[in-house]
Amino acid sequence: MTELALHDPLLYDAGFPYERFKELRDNNPVSHHEHPDYEGGYWVVARHADVQAVSRNAEVWRNSPGPFVEIPPGSPPEPDMDLLINLDGHAHIQMRKIVNKGFTPRRVAALEDRLRARVDSLIDALRDRDGADLVHDLALWLPLHVIADMVGVPEEDRAQVFGWTEKTFGFDPDLSMDDRNQAMTDMFLYADALSRQRQEQPTDDLLSLLLEAEIDGHQLTQFQVSSFFMLLQNAGSETTRNLITTGTLALLEHPDQLAKLQADHSILPTAIEELLRYVTPVMYFSRQAAQDTEVGGVPIPEGDRVVMSYVSANRDERAFDDPDGLDLTRAPNDHVAFGAGGPHFCLGASLARIEARIMFEQIVTRFEGLRPDGDPAAMPRVRSNLIDGFAELPITWDAINEALPA
Ligand code: HEM
Repeated sequence: MTELALHDPLLYDAGFPYERFKELRDNNPVSHHEHPDYEGGYWVVARHADVQAVSRNAEVWRNSPGPFVEIPPGSPPEPDMDLLINLDGHAHIQMRKIVNKGFTPRRVAALEDRLRARVDSLIDALRDRDGADLVHDLALWLPLHVIADMVGVPEEDRAQVFGWTEKTFGFDPDLSMDDRNQAMTDMFLYADALSRQRQEQPTDDLLSLLLEAEIDGHQLTQFQVSSFFMLLQNAGSETTRNLITTGTLALLEHPDQLAKLQADHSILPTAIEELLRYVTPVMYFSRQAAQDTEVGGVPIPEGDRVVMSYVSANRDERAFDDPDGLDLTRAPNDHVAFGAGGPHFCLGASLARIEARIMFEQIVTRFEGLRPDGDPAAMPRVRSNLIDGFAELPITWDAINEALPA
């Protein structure tokens, strides 16, 4: 039987193929692969040092026309995140300066109390049950609400907006293209109407801030603000959700590490970094060579596409001791789960860290006897070549404790 191509989402259906990437790291660290849509195929960079070298040299390695590798015809499409991630150079810096205003440490920290209350009520809602789906009953709500809080989506519109988000960006292989496109159009029209409202009556939310922000005489158009709303829904929700679900499973599968965290919450910051490394929800971003160049001594012609495998880099024995082990006190931990440095480094990293801290703190404290309800190896995963995670993760428990005092 021929092996599935590395860009084929089906390859990841049974979980990330760690062994195959270890083989690449050891024997073919910058490997070439054929692709039906790319004349020159694409390259996969598997080692940590090489991934960093590509990510940090934005002069040579460009994001445009887009940082994702097309999937084979007939598969559901990867989401089209426009705006920031497709831009390079000056245009990217300008845009980033504006959207950064929405992600200052002060603005992110201000969300914390609301976030904690949201997690409390999500877990409270499970107290009279003895089982749930970690994805749909817990993990997916937090990031969606956080972005809605930031952007200023009214509570009464959220069920609708979250429904569109799931259809547009969720990786449900059964959803038709028409349904997906319709949801995307509806969401865009909604974002457009909301930003129109904010233009007339500004508040202190992110939309108003983005509409007002001006850098070097540039302001975002309303279209750009609405597109950014879509980008945030996508970039902020699938990613954090999978950190929470797969991260929880990783803790359950390492009872010694779970016990360590339960005994001492002060290790949460290093624990989150280690879970990010171990889980790596975003499997790769790619770049295109702006000139003839090389990676790890392998010549790459101008125009060729190079995939930075973040998962492989995060399991690279050259960068981490016992890379397949989970060590919640690992330090230093130079993981590349948010990108490997350079101008496109994840805009939402500090927000994702706060979400994870609060969620994991509550999960390890409030649930007694938490465990997967079935064999995790048999649980359905998201169908994607970009995001690694579970489509469903049934869990069960013995009891749920009262919320922690704030
Ligand atoms: C565990 C959660 C998350 C992970 C693993 C993650 C991962 C990543 C990665 C790998 C990149 C590409 C970096 C690069 O190309 O160098 C990225 C970019 C980005 N992320 Fe995240 N992300 C997470 C959460 C979030 C959240 C919560 C938000 C916003 C609410 C967000 C917004 C963005 C944006 C806007 C970009 C594009 C930045 C640019 O192109 O300048 N992410 N993220």
